[in-house]
Amino acid sequence: MILRCIECGREYPINEVRYRCDCGDLLEVVHDIERLKKRVSCRLFDERLAKREFPYNSGVWRYKELILDIENKFIISRPEGNTNLYQSDKVGEYVGIEDIWLKHEGENPTASFKDRGMSCAISVAKMLGFKKVACASTGNTSASMASYADLAGMESIVFIPEEKIAFGKLAQALAYGAKTIQIKGDFDDAMKLVQKVCQEFRVYLLNSINPFRIEGQKAICFEVLQQLDWQVPDWFILPGGNLGNNTALSKGLRELYQIGMINRIPRMAVIQAQGANPLYTMWKERTPFEAVKAETIATAVKIGNPVSWKKSIRGIEWSRGVVEQVTDQEIMDAKAFVDASGIGAEPASCCSIAGARKLTKAGIIDKKERVVAILTGNLLKDPDAVVNYHLDRLKGIKSTYANKPIMIESSLKAVRKVLE
Ligand code: F0G
Repeated sequence: MILRCIECGREYPINEVRYRCDCGDLLEVVHDIERLKKRVSCRLFDERLAKREFPYNSGVWRYKELILDIENKFIISRPEGNTNLYQSDKVGEYVGIEDIWLKHEGENPTASFKDRGMSCAISVAKMLGFKKVACASTGNTSASMASYADLAGMESIVFIPEEKIAFGKLAQALAYGAKTIQIKGDFDDAMKLVQKVCQEFRVYLLNSINPFRIEGQKAICFEVLQQLDWQVPDWFILPGGNLGNNTALSKGLRELYQIGMINRIPRMAVIQAQGANPLYTMWKERTPFEAVKAETIATAVKIGNPVSWKKSIRGIEWSRGVVEQVTDQEIMDAKAFVDASGIGAEPASCCSIAGARKLTKAGIIDKKERVVAILTGNLLKDPDAVVNYHLDRLKGIKSTYANKPIMIESSLKAVRKVLE
């Protein structure tokens, strides 16, 4: 295992503390595929599924050889993963696809997909002897980091944008005891600042620019495939913000393909909010990458200058994937269906469903294909967005599928009227 620059190919040992190559570009973890061919198989992972022992009880560390082969004493695990893969007729009808599966990453210990990458990267922090960790965040990364830092006995410092982050996420960072620093600026400013902070002080950076975050997040697709008995779906569809998650999924799938555990490559669809769409614009217009000033109700993906765009686009091309954008109205309408199915997810997660519907209508996804949509975060992360949608109080958004509360006198007569 080594760290390699995605642009110039320069290599570094994995125990060197660095987040970028000397040339300035991104690094990725490179595994020894020939060695892995001899060591891992679907059967090995199926056998581990029946075990309850640490660390294989985790939906990340079950696939330890494919993630990060470090000594168990360094592993910080809640355990994470082991999230459900749901089917819902309501969502299927809305999207126009029968064979659609919802991978609910909001069922992780801190209620978002971030726990998988966090478990991996904070284990590296422990291995390297760090006592302090930091991240910039739109909310979920900070909640996850704060929780895992407690488990690891480390201090955590989070940098969040001055504008509103979802209440559930802010609550988590404060409650778990993170030093919470709200900066005058947006997520992209916070991201720049935290990189400088981690250069200057002995603090380990836990954003997804850290290549070990990507390694842990790969486990989402490993777990989905295992839940589908290693049958490869036609599509993986997921939201794109800082673009770490789709980078991780395509890397994980590529490695499984190289090892020979899958014989077909699923296509990847990355969905951005229209107000935070630099990857979409680059993809659609075939123009060089250009940052935007982000604005969307899906605050988790309110990111205009995503760190991993280069890795992301390579993964999408490799999988013959697509990038799509959806409006805030489309996000909230899709969310109404995800929520009303009894599953529920936060606004950004519902980019997946809004995007699946749009791509199906456009004929890019065939109605007969098998689609796995990733729901990245829990409904309870952003209760404001939910309640205000149902009370029709969201500026610029029609509450088409609102379920308004009903005010009545406290009498049987009044209840009868409502029920009839
Ligand atoms: N969905 C949710 C719920 C998120 O919190 C994020 C990112 C994404 C999707 C996008 O994933 O960045 O890998 O493309 N949230 C980060 C955070 C940026 O700080 O919590 P991505």
